[in-house]
Amino acid sequence: MSSDVEDQKRVAGEAAAALVESGMTVGLGTGSTAAWFVKALAARKLDILGVPTSQTTAELAQSLGIRLGELGPVKDIDLTIDGADEIGPGLSLIKGGGAALLREKLVWEASKRCVVIADAAKRVAVLGKFPLPIEVVAFGHETTALRLCDALALCDLGVAPRLRMRDGAPVKTDGGNLIYDAACGRIEEPAALADALKSVTGVVDHGLFLDLADQALVGAPEGVIVLEP
Ligand code: 5RP
Repeated sequence: MSSDVEDQKRVAGEAAAALVESGMTVGLGTGSTAAWFVKALAARKLDILGVPTSQTTAELAQSLGIRLGELGPVKDIDLTIDGADEIGPGLSLIKGGGAALLREKLVWEASKRCVVIADAAKRVAVLGKFPLPIEVVAFGHETTALRLCDALALCDLGVAPRLRMRDGAPVKTDGGNLIYDAACGRIEEPAALADALKSVTGVVDHGLFLDLADQALVGAPEGVIVLEP
Protein backbone atom coordinates (compact mmCIF):
# COMPACT_ATOMS: atom_id res chain seq x y z
CA MET A 1 0.00 0.00 0.00
CA SER A 2 1.38 3.43 -0.89
CA SER A 3 -0.79 6.35 0.06
CA ASP A 4 1.94 8.92 0.59
CA VAL A 5 3.04 10.70 -2.62
CA GLU A 6 6.74 10.05 -2.04
CA ASP A 7 5.93 6.40 -1.41
CA GLN A 8 3.98 6.23 -4.66
CA LYS A 9 6.96 7.67 -6.54
CA ARG A 10 9.27 5.17 -4.85
CA VAL A 11 7.19 2.07 -5.71
CA ALA A 12 6.80 3.26 -9.30
CA GLY A 13 10.59 3.74 -9.52
CA GLU A 14 11.24 0.32 -8.03
CA ALA A 15 8.78 -1.37 -10.39
CA ALA A 16 10.55 0.30 -13.32
CA ALA A 17 13.98 -0.83 -12.10
CA ALA A 18 12.68 -4.41 -12.23
CA LEU A 19 12.20 -4.02 -16.01
CA VAL A 20 15.92 -3.52 -16.59
CA GLU A 21 18.12 -6.46 -17.61
CA SER A 22 21.90 -6.84 -17.67
CA GLY A 23 23.44 -5.72 -20.93
CA MET A 24 20.87 -3.00 -21.56
CA THR A 25 21.53 0.63 -22.41
CA VAL A 26 19.09 2.58 -20.25
CA GLY A 27 17.90 6.17 -20.50
CA LEU A 28 17.83 7.71 -17.03
CA GLY A 29 15.11 10.33 -16.52
CA THR A 30 15.13 13.44 -14.39
CA GLY A 31 13.11 14.45 -11.33
CA SER A 32 12.23 13.03 -7.93
CA THR A 33 10.45 9.91 -9.29
CA ALA A 34 13.28 9.19 -11.72
CA ALA A 35 15.70 9.55 -8.80
CA TRP A 36 13.89 6.70 -7.01
CA PHE A 37 14.29 4.64 -10.17
CA VAL A 38 18.01 5.41 -10.43
CA LYS A 39 18.56 4.42 -6.79
CA ALA A 40 16.61 1.15 -7.21
CA LEU A 41 18.48 0.43 -10.44
CA ALA A 42 21.88 1.00 -8.81
CA ALA A 43 20.89 -1.33 -5.96
CA ARG A 44 20.38 -4.15 -8.50
CA LYS A 45 24.08 -3.92 -9.51
CA LEU A 46 23.37 -4.94 -13.12
CA ASP A 47 25.87 -4.57 -15.93
CA ILE A 48 24.15 -1.70 -17.75
CA LEU A 49 25.09 1.54 -19.47
CA GLY A 50 23.09 4.57 -18.32
CA VAL A 51 22.35 7.57 -20.54
CA PRO A 52 21.37 10.48 -18.28
CA THR A 53 18.86 13.16 -19.31
CA SER A 54 20.38 15.90 -17.14
CA GLN A 55 23.49 16.87 -15.25
CA THR A 56 21.62 16.27 -11.97
CA THR A 57 20.78 12.70 -12.94
CA ALA A 58 24.32 12.12 -14.23
CA GLU A 59 25.73 13.15 -10.87
CA LEU A 60 23.29 10.95 -8.94
CA ALA A 61 23.90 7.91 -11.15
CA GLN A 62 27.66 8.38 -11.03
CA SER A 63 27.63 8.66 -7.25
CA LEU A 64 25.80 5.32 -7.13
CA GLY A 65 28.30 3.58 -9.42
CA ILE A 66 26.23 3.41 -12.61
CA ARG A 67 28.40 3.39 -15.75
CA LEU A 68 27.39 6.29 -17.99
CA GLY A 69 27.47 7.06 -21.69
CA GLU A 70 26.29 10.11 -23.62
CA LEU A 71 23.65 10.35 -26.30
CA GLY A 72 25.45 10.87 -29.58
CA PRO A 73 28.32 8.46 -29.08
CA VAL A 74 25.58 6.12 -27.75
CA LYS A 75 22.97 5.82 -30.48
CA ASP A 76 20.61 3.06 -29.43
CA ILE A 77 18.89 2.98 -26.08
CA ASP A 78 16.95 -0.15 -25.11
CA LEU A 79 14.72 1.35 -22.45
CA THR A 80 14.20 4.81 -20.98
CA ILE A 81 12.49 5.38 -17.65
CA ASP A 82 11.42 8.91 -16.75
CA GLY A 83 8.89 10.87 -14.73
CA ALA A 84 6.14 13.22 -15.90
CA ASP A 85 4.22 16.22 -14.66
CA GLU A 86 0.95 15.04 -16.19
CA ILE A 87 -0.21 11.80 -17.78
CA GLY A 88 -3.21 12.32 -20.05
CA PRO A 89 -5.24 10.25 -22.52
CA GLY A 90 -3.23 7.76 -24.60
CA LEU A 91 -0.21 8.39 -22.36
CA SER A 92 0.17 11.90 -23.72
CA LEU A 93 2.42 13.73 -21.29
CA ILE A 94 3.51 17.09 -20.00
CA LYS A 95 7.15 17.03 -18.95
CA GLY A 96 9.80 19.61 -18.16
CA GLY A 97 8.91 20.62 -14.61
CA GLY A 98 12.57 19.96 -13.86
CA ALA A 99 13.73 21.96 -16.91
CA ALA A 100 15.23 18.88 -18.57
CA LEU A 101 12.66 18.45 -21.33
CA LEU A 102 15.00 18.84 -24.30
CA ARG A 103 17.56 16.25 -23.23
CA GLU A 104 14.70 14.03 -22.05
CA LYS A 105 12.98 14.19 -25.44
CA LEU A 106 16.25 13.51 -27.29
CA VAL A 107 16.88 10.44 -25.15
CA TRP A 108 13.25 9.25 -25.39
CA GLU A 109 13.28 9.53 -29.17
CA ALA A 110 16.47 7.44 -29.34
CA SER A 111 14.87 4.69 -27.22
CA LYS A 112 13.25 1.46 -28.33
CA ARG A 113 10.89 1.60 -25.36
CA CYS A 114 9.90 4.38 -22.96
CA VAL A 115 8.22 3.84 -19.62
CA VAL A 116 6.88 6.77 -17.63
CA ILE A 117 6.72 6.57 -13.84
CA ALA A 118 4.66 8.79 -11.57
CA ASP A 119 2.49 9.11 -8.50
CA ALA A 120 -1.28 8.84 -8.91
CA ALA A 121 -1.90 12.61 -8.80
CA LYS A 122 -0.18 12.98 -12.18
CA ARG A 123 -3.06 11.27 -14.01
CA VAL A 124 -5.42 13.77 -15.65
CA ALA A 125 -8.41 13.55 -18.00
CA VAL A 126 -7.16 16.53 -20.06
CA LEU A 127 -3.60 17.86 -20.19
CA GLY A 128 -2.93 21.46 -19.24
CA LYS A 129 -3.47 22.11 -15.56
CA PHE A 130 0.29 21.87 -15.07
CA PRO A 131 1.85 24.88 -16.86
CA LEU A 132 3.40 23.69 -20.11
CA PRO A 133 7.19 24.25 -20.15
CA ILE A 134 8.59 25.69 -23.38
CA GLU A 135 12.37 25.87 -23.86
CA VAL A 136 13.60 28.88 -25.82
CA VAL A 137 17.02 30.24 -26.76
CA ALA A 138 18.14 33.12 -24.56
CA PHE A 139 18.85 35.47 -27.48
CA GLY A 140 15.78 37.66 -28.04
CA HIS A 141 13.66 35.56 -25.69
CA GLU A 142 11.26 38.42 -24.89
CA THR A 143 10.42 38.62 -28.60
CA THR A 144 10.04 34.85 -28.81
CA ALA A 145 7.62 35.08 -25.87
CA LEU A 146 5.43 37.48 -27.85
CA ARG A 147 5.42 35.07 -30.82
CA LEU A 148 4.48 32.31 -28.39
CA CYS A 149 1.43 34.33 -27.29
CA ASP A 150 0.35 34.50 -30.95
CA ALA A 151 0.88 30.75 -31.43
CA LEU A 152 -1.09 29.96 -28.28
CA ALA A 153 -3.90 32.32 -29.32
CA LEU A 154 -4.16 30.50 -32.67
CA CYS A 155 -4.85 27.36 -30.60
CA ASP A 156 -7.58 29.22 -28.65
CA LEU A 157 -5.34 29.50 -25.62
CA GLY A 158 -5.29 33.10 -24.46
CA VAL A 159 -2.33 32.75 -22.18
CA ALA A 160 0.92 34.65 -21.78
CA PRO A 161 3.81 32.27 -20.97
CA ARG A 162 5.88 33.29 -17.95
CA LEU A 163 9.65 33.18 -17.80
CA ARG A 164 10.68 30.62 -15.17
CA MET A 165 12.70 32.26 -12.40
CA ARG A 166 14.58 30.92 -9.40
CA ASP A 167 16.21 33.06 -6.71
CA GLY A 168 15.59 36.20 -8.75
CA ALA A 169 17.25 34.93 -11.93
CA PRO A 170 15.94 33.12 -15.02
CA VAL A 171 16.29 29.34 -14.79
CA LYS A 172 18.85 28.05 -17.29
CA THR A 173 18.64 24.56 -18.72
CA ASP A 174 21.67 22.26 -19.04
CA GLY A 175 21.93 23.55 -22.61
CA GLY A 176 21.96 27.21 -21.49
CA ASN A 177 18.43 27.93 -22.72
CA LEU A 178 15.48 29.49 -20.85
CA ILE A 179 12.08 28.08 -19.91
CA TYR A 180 8.71 29.77 -20.34
CA ASP A 181 5.71 28.15 -18.63
CA ALA A 182 2.29 28.44 -20.27
CA ALA A 183 -0.64 27.94 -17.91
CA CYS A 184 -2.95 26.61 -20.62
CA GLY A 185 -5.66 25.23 -18.35
CA ARG A 186 -7.06 22.69 -20.82
CA ILE A 187 -5.13 21.50 -23.87
CA GLU A 188 -7.90 20.06 -26.02
CA GLU A 189 -5.69 19.47 -29.08
CA PRO A 190 -2.16 18.69 -27.93
CA ALA A 191 -0.84 17.70 -31.38
CA ALA A 192 -1.96 20.99 -32.94
CA LEU A 193 -0.44 22.92 -30.05
CA ALA A 194 2.84 20.98 -30.34
CA ASP A 195 3.08 21.90 -34.03
CA ALA A 196 2.22 25.55 -33.38
CA LEU A 197 4.86 25.90 -30.67
CA LYS A 198 7.57 24.22 -32.74
CA SER A 199 6.89 26.63 -35.61
CA VAL A 200 8.00 29.63 -33.53
CA THR A 201 11.59 30.64 -34.25
CA GLY A 202 13.54 30.65 -31.01
CA VAL A 203 11.60 27.74 -29.53
CA VAL A 204 13.91 24.80 -28.97
CA ASP A 205 11.24 22.38 -27.76
CA HIS A 206 8.24 22.03 -25.48
CA GLY A 207 7.09 19.65 -22.78
CA LEU A 208 4.36 17.89 -24.76
CA PHE A 209 5.48 14.26 -25.17
CA LEU A 210 2.97 12.73 -27.57
CA ASP A 211 3.05 9.14 -28.89
CA LEU A 212 6.33 8.52 -27.09
CA ALA A 213 5.43 6.58 -23.94
CA ASP A 214 4.90 2.84 -24.36
CA GLN A 215 3.77 2.22 -20.81
CA ALA A 216 3.15 4.01 -17.52
CA LEU A 217 3.78 2.64 -14.05
CA VAL A 218 1.75 4.72 -11.62
CA GLY A 219 2.17 4.39 -7.88
CA ALA A 220 -1.26 4.45 -6.24
CA PRO A 221 -2.76 3.66 -2.83
CA GLU A 222 -3.59 0.16 -4.09
CA GLY A 223 -0.10 -0.48 -5.52
CA VAL A 224 1.48 0.07 -8.96
CA ILE A 225 -1.02 0.51 -11.80
CA VAL A 226 0.18 -0.36 -15.32
CA LEU A 227 -1.21 1.82 -18.12
CA GLU A 228 -0.84 1.30 -21.87
CA PRO A 229 -1.51 3.97 -24.53
C1 5RP B 1 11.96 16.98 -15.58
C2 5RP B 1 10.69 16.23 -15.73
C3 5RP B 1 10.26 15.38 -14.59
O1 5RP B 1 10.23 14.06 -15.00
C4 5RP B 1 8.90 15.85 -14.13
O2 5RP B 1 9.00 17.20 -13.76
C5 5RP B 1 8.38 15.02 -12.97
O3 5RP B 1 9.14 15.25 -11.83
P1 5RP B 1 8.86 14.56 -10.44
O4 5RP B 1 9.08 13.09 -10.63
O5 5RP B 1 9.84 15.20 -9.49
O6 5RP B 1 7.42 14.87 -10.06
O7 5RP B 1 10.04 16.26 -16.74
O8 5RP B 1 12.19 17.84 -16.65
